[in-house]
Amino acid sequence: MVLSSDDKANIKAAWSKVGGHGAEYGAEALERMFHSFPTTKTYFPHFDLSHGSAQIKVHGKKVAEALTNASNHLDDLYSALSDLSDLHAHKLRVDPVNFKLLSHSLLVTLANHHPNEFTPSIHASLDKFFAAVGTVLTSKYR
Ligand code: HEM
Repeated sequence: MVLSSDDKANIKAAWSKVGGHGAEYGAEALERMFHSFPTTKTYFPHFDLSHGSAQIKVHGKKVAEALTNASNHLDDLYSALSDLSDLHAHKLRVDPVNFKLLSHSLLVTLANHHPNEFTPSIHASLDKFFAAVGTVLTSKYR
């Protein structure tokens, strides 16, 4: 996935709008994913997945922090996400198809909270960003 300089600028601009809401948005995206695509729940048998669950909130914060880190290393995603790539591919063995489902849920969440900023151009760049992150996190999956 090649991110153009316009994509990189769009991603940084869009992610800066998230500000202090990362944990909240991360949790909302996870909840949307579990609700809309129930097979994703199979990776979280040890989690309380009910609405408002503390575990979803904590995990949402971790996902948002990882995406903030990624947005700060757009030229070097493989190094920045190396540990997470090992975790998702080797340890958790998350099937790559699931990354599209979380990506979709993240896009819906951001569009829901920032409708004015969520232009077609920002939408496209964020979609490419989440696809690029997903590519890295699944790159060692076999
Ligand atoms: C944008 C894509 C994703 C990002 C940025 C991301 C990020 C993270 C982070 C930061 C952690 C915590 C690592 C740690 O505690 O050291 C994690 C754990 C985990 N992720 Fe992901 N993840 C992504 C996609 C997915 C998907 C699609 C699934 C499955 C549907 C998934 C399943 C898991 C599971 C099961 C854990 C372990 C949870 C636990 O036991 O605490 N992840 N992920």
